[in-house]
Amino acid sequence: MKGTSFFLLSLILIVFYSCGSSKTIRSGEIWTDTDQNTINAHGGGILYHNGTYYWYGEYKNDSTYHAPGVEWDCYRTEAGGVACYSSKNLQSWKFEGIVLKPDMTDPTSDIHPSMVIERPKVIYNDKTKKFVMWMHIDNYNYSKAAAGVAISDSPTGNFQYLHSLRPGGEESRDMTLFKDEDGKAYHIYSTKGNSTLFFHLLSDDYLTHTGIYRAAFSGKYREAPAIFKRQNKYYLITSGCSGWDPNEAEYAIADSILGEWKTMGNPCIGENANKSFGGQSTFAISVDPKKDKYIIMFDRWNKLDLIDSRYIWLPINFHPEGISIEWKPEWSFKK
Ligand code: GAL
Repeated sequence: MKGTSFFLLSLILIVFYSCGSSKTIRSGEIWTDTDQNTINAHGGGILYHNGTYYWYGEYKNDSTYHAPGVEWDCYRTEAGGVACYSSKNLQSWKFEGIVLKPDMTDPTSDIHPSMVIERPKVIYNDKTKKFVMWMHIDNYNYSKAAAGVAISDSPTGNFQYLHSLRPGGEESRDMTLFKDEDGKAYHIYSTKGNSTLFFHLLSDDYLTHTGIYRAAFSGKYREAPAIFKRQNKYYLITSGCSGWDPNEAEYAIADSILGEWKTMGNPCIGENANKSFGGQSTFAISVDPKKDKYIIMFDRWNKLDLIDSRYIWLPINFHPEGISIEWKPEWSFKK
C-alpha cells in the first residue's frame, strides 16, 4: 500500500473509532455523540419508548470544586440540569438537549446551579400520558436529601419541574425508578443516613408516594441502586457508600419488589472486580429479556474533574446460581 493510501486508511479508522458510529462499547473511554461531542449524562437512566432509547443524565458543564466549609470529600460542579440523548441501537447517541433546564434566576429554586441534581430517571405513565422524571435534589453540603419530580408531554422535554419532597418525611438520596409490567412504579432510594434502602410504591400518576413501602438492607449502607426484572424475579445491584470513590458492588434477588430481598454477593468478576471496575452502578437496561439481554450501566467518577467521569456499560450474565458481570474493555452486542 502506498504511503498516502495507508495514511488515509489509518485516518478513516481513527475517525470511525473515535466517533459515535463505532459499533463497540468501550468501557471507561470517552464516548461521543453523533455530533462528535463527549456524552454528558452522568448518573443516568434509560427510557425505551416507541422504538427509541432515551438516555437521561446529569449534565456537568462547569469546573469541579470542593464545596467550601464541607469536611468530607464533597467535590461538585454547578448543577447543569438533565441532558437527554436518543438512540435506536444503544450505541450511537444523538444529543436532544438539556431537557430539564437549571433555573438560573431564582437562588431558592431546587434546580438553581448552586444545588445538586443527581441520578435522574424517567418513566412513562400510560394513563396520564406524561413522562415523569424523578431525581435526587440536594443543596451544596447534601443536607437537604430530597427527591425532585418533573413532568413532560414529550420524552425530549421540556420537563417542567414540580417540587421536591422527602417521602414520608424521610431522607431520599441515591435513587432509581422501576416501572413494573402491571404499570405500578416504584421509587427506590437510600435513606436514614444512607443506612437503608426504601422501595416505595408511587401513586397511579407517579407524582407522589403511596406510603406503601419496604425497608431493606437496614444498616448495610447500600446506594446507587439499579434494578431489573427477569423471569418474575427482581434483581438489584448496589454500591457501598464511599462517595465518588469506587467500592465493591453487591446484588440481591427478590420474588416481589416489596418482599424479602436476599443478598447474593459481588456480581463483578475480572480485573478490579472488588472495586466495581472503578465504577458505581446507576441503571440496568432490559434490552431483550426474552433473550436474556440486559446491560448494567456504571459511572466511573473522576471526582477531581467530574465532567470527565466516564461510562462503563457491561452485559449481565445469567447462571443457575445467579448473575455475573465480567470486565470487558470493549464489546459489542446485537439488538
Ligand atoms: C455518591 C453518590 C453519588 C454522589 C456522590 C457525592 O455516594 O452515589 O451519586 O451523590 O456520592 O459525593
